[in-house]
Amino acid sequence: RLLATAGAVGAAGLTVGAAGGALAHSATDDHAPTALSTVGSREVAFHGKHQPGITTPMQAHGHLIAFDLAPSAGRKEATALMRRWSALAGELMAGRTAEHAGADTGVALDAGPSSTTVTFGFGRTFFDRTGLVARRPEGLDPLPAFSADQLDAQRSHGDLWVQIGADDALVAFHALRAVQRAAGKTARVRWQMNGFNRSPGATEQPMTTRNLMGQVDGTNNPKPSDQDFDQRIFVAAGSGQEWLTGGSFAVVRRIRMLLDDWEALSLNHQEAVIGRRKSDGAPLTGGEETTELALDERGTDGKLVIRENAHARISAPEQNGGAAMLRRPFSYHDGIGPDGTPDAGLLFICWQADPLRGFVPVQRKLDRGDALSEFIRHEASGLYAVPGGAREGEYVGQRLLE
Ligand code: HEM
Repeated sequence: RLLATAGAVGAAGLTVGAAGGALAHSATDDHAPTALSTVGSREVAFHGKHQPGITTPMQAHGHLIAFDLAPSAGRKEATALMRRWSALAGELMAGRTAEHAGADTGVALDAGPSSTTVTFGFGRTFFDRTGLVARRPEGLDPLPAFSADQLDAQRSHGDLWVQIGADDALVAFHALRAVQRAAGKTARVRWQMNGFNRSPGATEQPMTTRNLMGQVDGTNNPKPSDQDFDQRIFVAAGSGQEWLTGGSFAVVRRIRMLLDDWEALSLNHQEAVIGRRKSDGAPLTGGEETTELALDERGTDGKLVIRENAHARISAPEQNGGAAMLRRPFSYHDGIGPDGTPDAGLLFICWQADPLRGFVPVQRKLDRGDALSEFIRHEASGLYAVPGGAREGEYVGQRLLE
């Protein structure tokens, strides 16, 4: 049903954001049924070499949930859970909820798959709980402590981690509840965080998203078309843990933005902190968003145009021995905190083949003196080994658990 409508409404769906008023207006005024737009009908494949939700374009809504196995659950129960969750993820991603009416919550009834993805990861403690310590990858060694960390242990770590993304808030929530319910007595939620990104169709031209500081964020991400992309992001065969081949490591950091302080800065100051223009993300040394940063260029005053401590300078792979990660975050806001400031920021998620060559060296440098540090606070942290994608007939993590 869903795939059949996709072609017919392709063009109309895309014009909603671009054409603005006219189309949206008539649709709401007369309550005439409108065909599923491309947003609803878009479907991401569950099976594949890699799990979905890593190179999938960022969705408008996301939920991150960490679970701990119940005291009575071991490897057998964890295996059954991964089997259950994988079957469920396949159904959710295909938008097949109507068939479960009755057993299902019904929250996503009459919605299309909406680019839903469900991605599963194993935390360090999962291997202790399941008696699989010998097969724990070194990449799961605890991250070093950073001087500016203010981490809440209750909202960090976890035996299992699930990332859900979808372009519709109800579809995303439906998937979240389905995953939680399917955990049954095997695992209980340790923490949950909710995030969002720009909605597809909201901007006239597809562009890199903006974060809650207003910056264009994600420009200099490695691209799947880069020659070394797979090598940097996915675990290659021969890593010593064959079950993880095609997988990746996710570093998750809940990073609070001190928005009251940030928003009090002048535009010039804000731009100097990053080293890029706020309007279009172009480097302060000129050009457009995708122009390379001219890191050695000096102004008429003899000073570096992109400051020594600019975030884009310090985090650039050239400054970090080639360290690279794929940043695929969600923004979050949870109202106003007890201190009267917005509890808002970035659910920073980065993907790499080896955290010791990706996140760790970059964060170490940022921690030592990045201009942005003053305006952010790392409040929670997680590190997960994310197995490769399930092949047809397989469940996620099967090569570890069977
Ligand atoms: C680049 C914002 C935290 C790593 C950027 C850019 C912005 C930005 C606006 C420039 C555009 C781009 O290339 O994407 C932020 C904000 C953060 C944050 C608001 C916190 C709330 C982090 C953290 C890391 C990181 C924790 C890693 C430890 C990077 C990298 C680049 C980058 C690798 C690309 C540098 C390049 O190759 O030019 N960030 N960032 N960022 N950031 Fe962050």
